[in-house]
Amino acid sequence: MEKMLDMCKDYFDQTEEEKLKCGGEHVLAPIRSGTSFNASVEKVFFWRDFLKVWVHPQFHSPPTPAGFSEISLEYCKRTRQVARELIKGISESLGLEECYIDKAMDLESCFQILIANLYPPCPQPELAMGMPPHSDHGLLTLLTQNETDGLQLNHNGKWVNVHALPNTFLVNTGDHLEILSNGKYKSVVHRAVVNNKATRISLAMAHGPNLEKAVTPVTELVDNENNPPLYHGIKYKEYLELQQSNQLSGKSILNHVRI
Ligand code: OGA
Ligand code: NI
Repeated sequence: MEKMLDMCKDYFDQTEEEKLKCGGEHVLAPIRSGTSFNASVEKVFFWRDFLKVWVHPQFHSPPTPAGFSEISLEYCKRTRQVARELIKGISESLGLEECYIDKAMDLESCFQILIANLYPPCPQPELAMGMPPHSDHGLLTLLTQNETDGLQLNHNGKWVNVHALPNTFLVNTGDHLEILSNGKYKSVVHRAVVNNKATRISLAMAHGPNLEKAVTPVTELVDNENNPPLYHGIKYKEYLELQQSNQLSGKSILNHVRI
C-alpha cells in the first residue's frame, strides 16, 4: 500500500506533458488523467487531479513513472483477491451460496479500475470541494490514503468525517451491490473535502461485474408480492459510461435504473 501510494505521488509529481502523454479523451479510455471529474460538462471544477486506469480483465498502466506498472500489477492482483473474498461473505450474508455473486457477476473477469486522487492544499477550503457527493458504480471499492483525511460519508443525512487508520482499507459499497441485492445493501454516498494544510492522495480500487453483464436483482431475493424488483437491468458498461459522461451527483445514475 505504501509503495503504491508513493507511486501515485510520483505520478502526480510529473510534468503536465508527461501526464497528458498517457491519457485518452473518451470517458471509457482505459487510461485517463485530468482535473476535476468531467471538465467537459462542469461549470465549476473540483479541487482534484486524477488518474484512472483500467487494470482488469486487461491490465493497463501509464508508461511513467518507472516502476509504476510492476507495483500496480501486484497491488491490483492482491486487492482483487480481497474484494472477491469480501464478496463471498456478502453473498452468504444474503442467504446465497458463497460463490453465487462471484459466478453470477463473472468476477474472474471482473472490471477493476485504479483511481488515484490528488487534492492539493486549498487556500479557501470552505469554498471548494475535492469530489462532490456520489456513490461508486461497481460492487465494492477499496480505498486507502496518505496520512491526510478528507473523506466524508453521508449517514442519515449528515456528513461524517472518516478518520482512516494507516495500512487499512475503507470499503465502500457500490450501486451494483445495491442493484443485485435488490436494495438490501445500499451504496454509500460519499464526498471528499479539501484542507489548506497538506496534500491529500487517495487511491480507490473499484471492483465491478464483468463489463458485459446487465445486472438485475438476484431472483432468489425477489418475489413479486413482498419484494418486487426495484431496479431495471442495464449493461454495466453503459452504466459506467452514463456515470462518467455526466456531472457526478449523488445517486443520480442509480435513480435512472430505479423502477
Ligand atoms: C472516488 C472517491 C474519495 C476520496 O475516487 O470514487 O470517492 O477520498 N474518492 O478521495
Ligand atoms: Ni467514490
